[in-house]
Amino acid sequence: MTAATSAEGFPPGFLWGVSTSAYQIEGAAAQDGRGPSIWDTRCRVPGGVVNGDTGDVACDHYHRYAEDIALMRGLGVGAYRFSVAWPRVLPRGRGAPNDKGLDFYDRLIDAVLEAGIEPWLCLYHWDLPQSLHDLGGWANRDVAGWFADYAVLVARRYGDRVKHFATVNEPSVFTLFGYAIPWAAPGITDRAMNLRAIHHVNLAHGAGVDVLRDHVPGVSIGAIHNCQPVIPATDSEADREAAAFLDEHWNLAFPDPQLLGRYPSRLAALIEPHMQAGDMARICRPTDWIGLNHYGPIFAKADASTTWGFGWADLPDGAEDHGIGWPVFPEMFRDELVRLTRRYRLPVYVAENGCSGNDTPDANGAVDDPRRIRYLTLYTDAMRDAMRAGADVRGYFVWSLLDSFEWGSGYGPRFGLVHVDFPTGTRTPKSSARWYAELIRRSRTVAA
Ligand code: FCB
Repeated sequence: MTAATSAEGFPPGFLWGVSTSAYQIEGAAAQDGRGPSIWDTRCRVPGGVVNGDTGDVACDHYHRYAEDIALMRGLGVGAYRFSVAWPRVLPRGRGAPNDKGLDFYDRLIDAVLEAGIEPWLCLYHWDLPQSLHDLGGWANRDVAGWFADYAVLVARRYGDRVKHFATVNEPSVFTLFGYAIPWAAPGITDRAMNLRAIHHVNLAHGAGVDVLRDHVPGVSIGAIHNCQPVIPATDSEADREAAAFLDEHWNLAFPDPQLLGRYPSRLAALIEPHMQAGDMARICRPTDWIGLNHYGPIFAKADASTTWGFGWADLPDGAEDHGIGWPVFPEMFRDELVRLTRRYRLPVYVAENGCSGNDTPDANGAVDDPRRIRYLTLYTDAMRDAMRAGADVRGYFVWSLLDSFEWGSGYGPRFGLVHVDFPTGTRTPKSSARWYAELIRRSRTVAA
């Protein structure tokens, strides 16, 4: 262990968890009636994913979920955040459900509960059924109704056992990178489609909140946003304007309408033509918490070659990064938690935070990952500082339980507390897993 986090300062009941998402871990992509998603398609586009990697097998969690729950039990986590694959339960996105797919999540949820862990279910983590994309996907306003019908299915089936639901994960990432800067499925570059997708995701969120509220007694609902400071690379007018516009897309385009009932100013003017009367009331529904995914800040620059004229700048000289060019600035995490609390006045759950690496087992099969321990130490300390400064943080989920399919980057970046040998599926807890288990244990002892 290279660094020790102080366990003091976390209140009794503070929730410690781990996060995953369906397409990144499940595998069994063509098994038991699952339909294709836009990510299955993206993986088959030449150059779509590094190395031509796919989620076909991933961590084979579909078959090895019991082993993965045992790993979580070993960590001592109180909660597990996962997502349901829409195309596994509704292979064509709407219409006839797939019993075998529904059965899988029954087994998973029952086993998670059996292990004494709270299931936190996210309805949408980027795997839109391909059949719905063929009908226009997020750019088609009907998607809000398709999403609501899917939410009814999930709420009715699991709402007796699952009480914590998120509607969507990182909507700004999958709309911006899906429809403007083609780093994610469906890989389109079209301003109008991007604007429509933003608005329709917000409508889908609002419809999903109503469905969950109606169908799940005692439900607790949130949406999960990736908020991070956007810093202009230079002081030039162009870079400052690019950073301000990226800030609207990245940080405000979803939480502002969902929680404050308005779009940020630049986007408001652009989205207006795609709105109908009453839309803001449909979007802005009461929720119980806000989920924050945060890894580090963004350095932004003007870039006329991109769809919206903004781009990602290099890190400042000397900035620490955690392996894939993502910067390490824990104090900005602290500030972000305080900002969210002040702006939205809801309890905050950190739904993702973590560190990549290309950790490999040593000659004895052990996986030592001191850089991840250092990162998690700095960030959990910063979270505690934020709480002392008034941030209303109620829980923290590490991304991720397992090394997994890292979207367009394939299997290169490893974010897991647990190493996965992809050819065999063998799981090996890293030294960071022991560090996290110890933090959880000590924080409970200190709080008690
Ligand atoms: C987030 C995603 C998650 C994972 C982490 C590293 O943007 O929500 O699925 O890829 O980044």
